[in-house]
Amino acid sequence: MDILMIGSGGREHALIRQLNKSAKVNKIYCAPGNGGISREAECFNVSATDIPGVVQLAKQLKPDMVFVAMDDPLVAGMVDELNKAGFRAFGPDKKAAIIEGSKVFSKNLMKKYNIPTAGYDVFDNAQDALNFIEKQNKYPTVIKADGLALGKGVIIAENYDMAKDAVKSIMEDKIFGQSGNKVVVEEFIEGPEVSVLSFCDGKTVVPMVSSKDHKRAYDGNKGPNTGGMGTVSPNPYYDGQMAKRCMDEIFIPTVKAMANEGRPFKGCLYFGLMLTKDGPKVIEYNCRFGDPEAQVVLPRLKTDIIDILNAVIDERLDEINIEWSDEACACVVMASGGYPKSYKKGIEITGLNDDGQIEGAIVYHAGTAYKDGKFYTNGGRVLGITATGKTLDDALDKAYGAVKRIHFDGNEYRTDIGKIK
Ligand code: AMP
Ligand code: GLY
Repeated sequence: MDILMIGSGGREHALIRQLNKSAKVNKIYCAPGNGGISREAECFNVSATDIPGVVQLAKQLKPDMVFVAMDDPLVAGMVDELNKAGFRAFGPDKKAAIIEGSKVFSKNLMKKYNIPTAGYDVFDNAQDALNFIEKQNKYPTVIKADGLALGKGVIIAENYDMAKDAVKSIMEDKIFGQSGNKVVVEEFIEGPEVSVLSFCDGKTVVPMVSSKDHKRAYDGNKGPNTGGMGTVSPNPYYDGQMAKRCMDEIFIPTVKAMANEGRPFKGCLYFGLMLTKDGPKVIEYNCRFGDPEAQVVLPRLKTDIIDILNAVIDERLDEINIEWSDEACACVVMASGGYPKSYKKGIEITGLNDDGQIEGAIVYHAGTAYKDGKFYTNGGRVLGITATGKTLDDALDKAYGAVKRIHFDGNEYRTDIGKIK
């Protein structure tokens, strides 16, 4: 099969790596890709959010499958347009991707189907939201923009002034555009967070091995939220008993709820969970693989990924058996100095071979460019240095060992991945 991957991050690099392991894969194309991806797939300069551009590229390349890995094009309906043009595509259609595209939709879905989540109220004007927050007078309180916001649409307000700033910037200044037409004001809940990605074919849900993201920029879970600074798999706080409970109380009910609403979910459904003292609760759904969760989950997959993707698209996930290795996996993100705020691009990266790799670890490229035999920084999250090991400590030692041998000016990474709650 020839596959066209849509996206440009570490997640897409990890997916391409996994696809390249399959004997059933012939050629891999990627739009737009990045420096590291260009060393193992043919890249095309078409933006991942350009739906007509991607459909046009598919017509030119005639791939056997298009894999849409990113949230924005999925929510905007790229899979619908690819299907209309006659292509097989992996990823939810627009009416299912709304589970990530609208927090109001997902919260209302959970309420209707008794899926455990934090208590909430929805507002479509700033004054009503602020009156509610003032009257409730309970902090911290959580304010979420309804729509997509590059992972920055969640604000945890410690007092009324912070809440007021958040509501005004989302609903009046429209810092996330139309995504801020509505806000969800949510109860603050506490406990270890767990990411569970799953394969869904609209009827059957098969959870993958668990993982744990580290969202804050700095050590000690300090600093601003980012797209994710590192991950480990399995998640040390998620045991077999909890997995069973989440399957019964959250995963199966969600997939049934979506089918019942006439929005069967086909693709990778990501459950962002919090294990509270009252049991597991959903923090968020994503309609795609997490980044950098994919980077630690996929290296543990033993089954041919092509067999799984085909089973999802053809709605026969119940017929296949998916196997995982018992090894642990860790990914440490090396980011540009200043990320997630402003940072420079175009800084040379040293320590990598001509394939963008290093001995003893897997290097997933995110914000990199390749030119004349050299790699340069080209984004906030630059590289995800990943290793597997018998234990989590082994995996972390290998990943951090490789991080120390890779350099670019101003690089920042957390030193406590896998070591902190
Ligand atoms: P999200 O983008 O929805 O994953 O939210 C970003 C982060 O905000 C999550 O990973 C949590 O750490 C935190 N968060 C979101 N909702 C809540 C909540 N209701 N209570 C406490 N923390 C939350
Ligand atoms: N790492 C969190 C996400 O992909 O949304």
